[in-house]
Amino acid sequence: MKFRVCAAALICSAFLTAQQQEQNPPQNPPPQPPAGAANGPQPGPAVKSPGPGERTGDQPKAAGAASATMQEAMRNFLAIGAPPDPEAVKRGQALFVSTCGFCHGTNANGGATGPDLVRSVLVLHDQGTGKEIGPVIHNGRPAKGMPAFSNLTDVQIKDIAAFLLGRTQSAANRMDYKILNIVTGDPKAGEAYFTAHCASCHSPSGDLAHIATKYEPVALQARFLYPKTQHFPGTPGPPPDPREQKTVIVTLSSGQSYSGKLERLDDFSVALTDSSGEYRSWLFDDEQGIKVDVHDPLKKHADMIPQYTDTDMHNVLAYLETLK
Ligand code: HEC
Ligand code: HEC
Repeated sequence: MKFRVCAAALICSAFLTAQQQEQNPPQNPPPQPPAGAANGPQPGPAVKSPGPGERTGDQPKAAGAASATMQEAMRNFLAIGAPPDPEAVKRGQALFVSTCGFCHGTNANGGATGPDLVRSVLVLHDQGTGKEIGPVIHNGRPAKGMPAFSNLTDVQIKDIAAFLLGRTQSAANRMDYKILNIVTGDPKAGEAYFTAHCASCHSPSGDLAHIATKYEPVALQARFLYPKTQHFPGTPGPPPDPREQKTVIVTLSSGQSYSGKLERLDDFSVALTDSSGEYRSWLFDDEQGIKVDVHDPLKKHADMIPQYTDTDMHNVLAYLETLK
């Protein structure tokens, strides 16, 4: 089974590579090696011409910076994170096309036997780290037709993750038509799912009334998967919703405790603003035995992400779309 799969993937990747080259002939064909030359490095003076990624000196800096700021603002507005490293994307793409493209499609939009990874919640959640997709790639899901690729290194997986992140980001950016057509589920099944998993916090006639008129389907899907409002001062976009604000209870070794909005929590300190508006912070080094208890109203949303099946997701979205 494994062999057959590998053979199919390899043959197919060779075919795809050939096809790609045919469709996109390289713009600057590399000089033909002189007859008889081996494929190895060319003899001659070791003058290294700069690669495409290294040619930064000759770019119009000011214009580049301005449009970069615009792009960044757009990404922030769409709540898209920082773009992945383009070199990693390139390496990941090459690997993906040859190893995974047969089943998942060369653009990861779904192929012969594998699902669309651009819309995969797991991939969305991975955010280019490789942490979520790594185990799936290493172990496969043999019973479901996904073979194990135990020999891929962590670096290769991270490259693939970068490529997939690039794909999800460009899909969100362009509002791909394919992506927009995601309301394919069963609203009745979605309603049942909602009653079981969501109704303890939400009501279709209360806080979620007319929710479908507030967001396009893609945005609505993103909202219910992880409803975090990203706010970047100076850019358009709604301010953070107070209902998503994390709160914290800090208890000192003396037993004295403070609670309020969580302002900061890192390895060294915690800070909060209490109900009277007073800002307080503590350094862990100074406060032996300090206890920090964070409440995140969105924790349930984060916990649910890995639990949805594709069908659940489509059904819930189809149901939410009825709330016009
Ligand atoms: C022989 C076909 C095949 C190949 C080759 C293949 N996959 Fe898959 N892949 C599948 C199938 C089928 C599933 C769905 C399994 C399931 O239903 O749980 C899947 C699932 C996945 C998932 C989980 C998606 C999700 O939302 O749960 C990821 C991530 C993934 N594949 C990545 C890859 C990567 C990266 C490669 C290349 C290194 C690859 N696959 C190669 C068939 C394949
Ligand atoms: C433990 C409580 C809890 C559960 C369970 C829960 N949510 Fe939420 N949800 C929240 C909080 C808190 C927010 C953020 C505040 C807000 O925007 O309403 C939120 C926000 C949302 C939003 C964005 C609303 C807006 O106006 O932008 C949607 C949509 C949503 N949830 C859908 C769901 C769905 C669908 C489920 C079940 C699959 C679910 N929620 C389960 C607590 C919960």
